Amino acid sequence: MKEIVFATNNSHKLEEARAILAGRFRVRSLAEIGCHDDIPETADTLEGNALIKARWVKERYGYDCFADDTGLMVDALGGAPGVYSARYAGPECDAVANMRLLLDNMEGKTDRRARFVTVIALILDGEERMFRGSVEGRIADAPSGTAGFGYDPVFVADESGMAFAEMTPEAKNAISHRGRALRAMAAEL
Ligand code: IMP
Repeated sequence: MKEIVFATNNSHKLEEARAILAGRFRVRSLAEIGCHDDIPETADTLEGNALIKARWVKERYGYDCFADDTGLMVDALGGAPGVYSARYAGPECDAVANMRLLLDNMEGKTDRRARFVTVIALILDGEERMFRGSVEGRIADAPSGTAGFGYDPVFVADESGMAFAEMTPEAKNAISHRGRALRAMAAEL
C-alpha cells in the first residue's frame, strides 16, 4: 500500500484521516517519520500555512504528504479568529483560553453565525493540489460537551443542533470541515 505523511501529530486528526483513506494509503504522522520540528505557520491564509507545512515535509524529509490548516470564522468578529484560531488568546495555543476569549468577545452579540474552514495542501507524485471543506454553525453562549478538541464545546453545527463536543467522533466527522476536506481529497486520489 502507498504511504503518505499527514503533517500533524494530533491524534484526533490522524484517526479521522486513517479512517477516510483506509485501504488506499497508509497514513504516517510526523513523529513516525522522525520529524519533531516546530514548523512555522507564518502565512496569513489557510492555503499559505497548509502549503508551508506540506512543502516542509516534502523538501526536508522527502515524503509525499498532505497538511491541513483550519480556521474558525465568526461573522460578528469580521471573520476572526480565522487563520489565527490556534493562537487567538496568545502564543501558548491554549484551547480553554481561546474559547474564553471568544465567548468574551461575543458577549452581547446577537449574530452568532460562524463556520469552520479547512484547507488541505497535498503533494503527491510531484504535484501540489488544494482541497477545502467547511461547516456552518453558530457560537454557543457557553461551552457544552467533553468530546473533541479546540473550539468544539462552543461550536454548534447547524446540521446537528449540537455542539461538536457533544457529538460522537463519527457523527462529528460526517459533517465536519476537516472530514469534508479529507473526503474531497480522497475522492480525487
Ligand atoms: P489547525 O489548523 O487544525 O491546527 O487548527 C487551528 C485552530 O482551530 C486550533 O486552535 C484548533 O484547536 C482549532 N480547530 C481545528 N479543528 C477544529 C475542530 O475540529 N474543532 C474545534 N477546533 C478546531
